Amino acid sequence: MTGSPKKTILRALAGETQKTPPVWMMRQAGRYLPEYRELRATAGGFLDLCYNPEFATEVTMQPIRRYGFDAAILFADILLLPQALGMDLWFAEGEGPRLNPVTCVADLSKLKGKDDIHDVLGPVYETVNRLSGELPKETALIGFAGAPWTVATYMVAGRGTPDQAPAREWMYRDPTGFGQLIDLITESTIEYLAKQVEAGAEVIKLFDSWSGALGGSCFEEYALKPAVRIATELKARFPGLPVIGFPRGAGGGYIKFADAGVFDGVAIDTSVPADWARDELQNKVTVQGNLDPMLLITGGESLERETKRLLDILGQGPYIFNLGHGITPQGDPANVEKMLRFIRG
Ligand code: CP3
Repeated sequence: MTGSPKKTILRALAGETQKTPPVWMMRQAGRYLPEYRELRATAGGFLDLCYNPEFATEVTMQPIRRYGFDAAILFADILLLPQALGMDLWFAEGEGPRLNPVTCVADLSKLKGKDDIHDVLGPVYETVNRLSGELPKETALIGFAGAPWTVATYMVAGRGTPDQAPAREWMYRDPTGFGQLIDLITESTIEYLAKQVEAGAEVIKLFDSWSGALGGSCFEEYALKPAVRIATELKARFPGLPVIGFPRGAGGGYIKFADAGVFDGVAIDTSVPADWARDELQNKVTVQGNLDPMLLITGGESLERETKRLLDILGQGPYIFNLGHGITPQGDPANVEKMLRFIRG
């Protein structure tokens, strides 16, 4: 070893147990922060924030300035990639994302190829570049993308759905055609993330928010296999690059991610018992998570109890403190401060 990296998140991902675990929050830049809402109101829409490097850099920095989190996560969205592949994307106010769906193999010919995405995504790389110059030297910069299955669920339905039925239907009816869609997203995601790393991202996280909807052999085929392909290829291009997988809702499937040998960290959702994660995952990978975001609305005794419980159970091994899912707009910034006091003393 030629000296361990200095940044706490990188040390955790290298397998180090730290007395005080590093901490950041999913959706740490967002609507629970008044300074985000203010900038968002002047910027126009959410996508105007994502594609404006000055604004995107500023909102990424906001939670770092306020709380001194150990990592910043690039401000962007998993649905920018489908847009770069040629789909229309818009966010209906108060309703979430909308896309003009791809519903069959013939629709795939309307999409662009994996190497044609960078014109649209150029501003994102510029944001990463600016952030790597602006962040405090102790703060790690996380780049990210949606995992292929989760991105596909939005591309096929044209919106968020409670059960991802449209994508699951195509997946069973026409595995060959659906496989082509997954492959296109997988290969484009590699190119997208490679550019983020070249621009200065130090850690990559893959968000598979809907992997819990995949049963039987489909979890391995559409969640595990593409994630392993992406992590393997990125590590081949950028030796030593740490990758975090987040197969949300995967249950026992988390073990397959830990066993895959290409993820340095696995992020666990709120449904995963912390002691199970300690016993089954933490001897193989660094664990990240899994505080219930609801506690940042309620605060109080429960927030203190559950924060300390996670530190007791998972803090004895390589651990990154985080939530089990993103902080919600109703989260109270003062409760985030309390959580940090419980962690950092
Ligand atoms: O975590 C961060 O702070 C980094 C930025 C980030 C956003 N989205 C910003 C965002 C990241 C990593 C994401 C990932 C993302 N986007 C996921 C995977 C993680 C998860 O939450 O499960 C998914 C499924 C999406 C798609 C998406 N984007 C949805 C369904 C929505 C609408 C729901 C909502 O919260 O409004 C978004 C919008 C979005 N992405 C916002 C932010 C800050 C809210 C935009 C706004 O109105 O200001």
